Amino acid sequence: MSAKILYGKDFAAQIKESARTEVDKLKNQFNVTPGLAVIIVGENPASQVYVRNKHKTCEELGIKSEVVALPETTTKEELLAKIDALNADKTIHGILVQLPLPEAVKAHSDEILNRIDPLKDVDGFHPMNVGKLVTGTPALVPCTPAGCIEMLDLAGIEIDGKRAVIIGRSNIVGKPMLHLLMARHATVTVCHSHTKNLPEITREAEILVAAMGKPKFVTADMIRPGAVVVDVGINRIAPKKLVGDVDFDAAVEVASAITPVPGGVGLLTVAMLMKNVVTAAKLQLGV
Ligand code: GUN
Repeated sequence: MSAKILYGKDFAAQIKESARTEVDKLKNQFNVTPGLAVIIVGENPASQVYVRNKHKTCEELGIKSEVVALPETTTKEELLAKIDALNADKTIHGILVQLPLPEAVKAHSDEILNRIDPLKDVDGFHPMNVGKLVTGTPALVPCTPAGCIEMLDLAGIEIDGKRAVIIGRSNIVGKPMLHLLMARHATVTVCHSHTKNLPEITREAEILVAAMGKPKFVTADMIRPGAVVVDVGINRIAPKKLVGDVDFDAAVEVASAITPVPGGVGLLTVAMLMKNVVTAAKLQLGV
C-alpha cells in the first residue's frame, strides 16, 4: 500500500483564499485594511527566508505588511519600545517577533513576546492566548498546529474519537497540538525525549504527529499500518537538503496518508498566519 500524500500547497491555497475573502470584507464593510508587523532581529538566513515569505503572502492577499529589520546589536529595551509603538499603532493588527532571537536578547524572549498586546499576538504565544486555548476558548492559536488541524479537516480526515500521538512537547507545536486535538475529541498522548518504549506508543496512533526536530527519526516500524502521519519537522541535513522528522520513503508504504517535507505542513504555517491576522483585526474591531 502507498499512502495518500498530503501536499501543503493544495490546502494552503484554500486557507489563503478564505483569508482573502475576509480581507475584502473588512475593507468593504469597515474600511479597514488588516496589517501585520514582523520584527526580525539579526541576519539568521532561515529567518530571513521565512520573513520574506510572510511579506510576499501578505501582499498577495491585500494585507498591509511592515517588516521591521533590526540589527543584531538591538537591546531588550529597544525591542520593547518597538513593540509598545506597534501595540499603539491602529493600522497594525498583528505583531510577530521572528524566532530565534540573537544570543544577546534570547534570554529575554519571554519578556519580549509577552509585551505584545494579546489581541495582536498572531503567533498565539502570549500566556493569555495559551490560557484561552487550554480552557477551550481559543482566540489566536499558534499557526503551525492550527494549520495541521485545518489540513486534516480539509482532507476529510476524522479526528473525533481517534487515538492520536504527538512526539515533541514544544510550546510552538507539541503543547498547542495536544489541546487542539483534545478539543476535537481525540485521545491524545504526548511523547518526548524521556518517554520509555516510544515505538510501542507511536504504534497505537491512528494520527501520528512528529514534531521533535530529529531528522528521519520516525521509522516504518513505529507507525501503525493505515495511520495518518503529520510531519512537522524541518531539518537541514546538507546545504540544499531538507528532511522531516519522519523517514518518508519507508513511512509512505505503511501510512494511509502522510505529509511530505518540504512541501507539507510548512506551507500551512504562513497561510494560517494570514488567517490569524484577519482574526486579530476582527477581535480589535469587535466584529
Ligand atoms: N520561528 C520558527 N517558527 C516560528 C513561529 O511559528 N513563530 C515565530 N515568531 N518564529 C518562528
